Amino acid sequence: MSIRTVSTRPFPDQKPGTSGLRKKVPVFQQPHYLENFVQAIFDSIAAPQGETLVLGGDGRYYNRTAIQIILKMAAANGFGKVLVGQGGILSTPAASCVIRKHKAFGGIILSASHNPGGPKEDFGIKFNSSNGGPATETVTEAIFAKSKSISSYRILDAADVALDRLGETTLGSMQVQVIDPVSDYAGLMESLFDFAAIRSLLKGGFKLKFDAMHAVNGPYASEIIEKRLGAAPGSVMNAVPLEDFGGGHPDPNLTYAHDLVEIMYGADAPDFGAASDGDGDRNMILGKRFFVTPSDSLALLAANASLVRGYAQGLAGVARSMPTSAAVDRVARALNIPCFETPTGWKFFGNLMDANKVTLCGEESFGTGSNHVREKDGLWAVLFWLNILAVRKQSVEAIVREHWAKYGRNFYSRYDYEGLPTEAANGVMQHLRDSFAVLTGKQFGKYAVQTCDDFSYTDPVDGSLSKGQGVRILFSDGSRIIFRLSGTGTEGATLRVYLEAFEADVSRHHLDAQEALKEFIQIALHISELQTRTGRDQPTVVT
Ligand code: G1P
Ligand code: ZN
Repeated sequence: MSIRTVSTRPFPDQKPGTSGLRKKVPVFQQPHYLENFVQAIFDSIAAPQGETLVLGGDGRYYNRTAIQIILKMAAANGFGKVLVGQGGILSTPAASCVIRKHKAFGGIILSASHNPGGPKEDFGIKFNSSNGGPATETVTEAIFAKSKSISSYRILDAADVALDRLGETTLGSMQVQVIDPVSDYAGLMESLFDFAAIRSLLKGGFKLKFDAMHAVNGPYASEIIEKRLGAAPGSVMNAVPLEDFGGGHPDPNLTYAHDLVEIMYGADAPDFGAASDGDGDRNMILGKRFFVTPSDSLALLAANASLVRGYAQGLAGVARSMPTSAAVDRVARALNIPCFETPTGWKFFGNLMDANKVTLCGEESFGTGSNHVREKDGLWAVLFWLNILAVRKQSVEAIVREHWAKYGRNFYSRYDYEGLPTEAANGVMQHLRDSFAVLTGKQFGKYAVQTCDDFSYTDPVDGSLSKGQGVRILFSDGSRIIFRLSGTGTEGATLRVYLEAFEADVSRHHLDAQEALKEFIQIALHISELQTRTGRDQPTVVT
């Protein structure tokens, strides 16, 4: 076996986005494309010789091929050991857990999260640091810089590693350990939640359905929910991970998790429904004919954390991404703990958790998590909910309604306009920025614009500044409209419009969110000139 140095030329488009490098599979299949990016990672992180790397992905098309390439490159770049999930599988939160538990130098996660998979669909790669969290912007910028000047990469000439058999092999002088992708993670969940209480809830006739969407969480949910917690066989649906997610779009929301939604809104619906995404870090929570918005879910977990073993000692603080509703802010106020508002993307929570400033954090995009790992965690959120339900013995809907009655309700919705011509999308954003002065103080029906800005964030831990994180139109009653361009799309531009209106009046809490936000949506379309500038009169997805 010999190490080969292969000469190559840079690709200009390897800038990591909100969550690593995401491209269509054929882009990754170009000769040297993946190799260049992996070498750029290895060069930027400068891992000391003999270090341990964690490797795995969500099982999508190209996962296995990429893993073989990365293993051989890791061996040629001086890693001592790679822990790789059996079959190349590791959910994103499980990868984070494994990195932390085994004190690895870092990990490479292969996933395009909730984006479809298949030969013509999406693939992605990102590096996570030794804290288990996504690399900071300093590191991702270094990787990008490296990718623009790369001239060669190193790879070991060797046969492929058998990924389906647990145990150790060697690759050159590097050890490869194929690990059970579930066991470390399941153990961590068992330490945080009261499995006995959840087991007795399920024994008492409480019914649940978990939709793994043919994605990575299938084996995790089968082991934890059916095997360890004793839910009826079949409680986990679409449990076998498939390379193309069964042709579906593995994004747990009301549009894409339609199999589950039909069950939860049908006759004889179970008491609890949940789904997670391609790589297992997102979650959707449903009660019987009832949808819990991710922003409300975060607020509710914070408000009920004292009932749950792993969090009963109190929360250091909470954090939410800027577009996430302010529901959790009011819980933080009541608990007298700090609440941080960060830019979109999980990487901004890492520093806060490492510095022990926050325990729980979340995003409106169906992501919730805590300091147990450094990624958002879909199954963790489901177990947190089940633990609360086991203690409170009320329905999901009753718990949420009680919460609104106490704290008020933040009506919330997000409109996504996908696949827009980049110029038109940039035009909308520029037009909004140019309108700040005109909009300030303006009255729209009962809503008055208080301020407008382009959100920027100074990290309270390392002082780094992130600018241009989304246009905010802030109204005097606390309502908000936010416009932001996606950093994860792979085709054209995706414009996201986030709408939030606060309602203290309980007699209006029963309203449907779209109904309550109707006037607001019109204001958003009017001030952004979105329809005329993009030619779109309907959003692609509403969540
Ligand atoms: C989207 C979500 C964001 C999330 C990210 C990764 O990013 O909006 O909250 O952290 O996916 O799951 P965006 O496409 O908006 O940049
Ligand atoms: Zn994801």
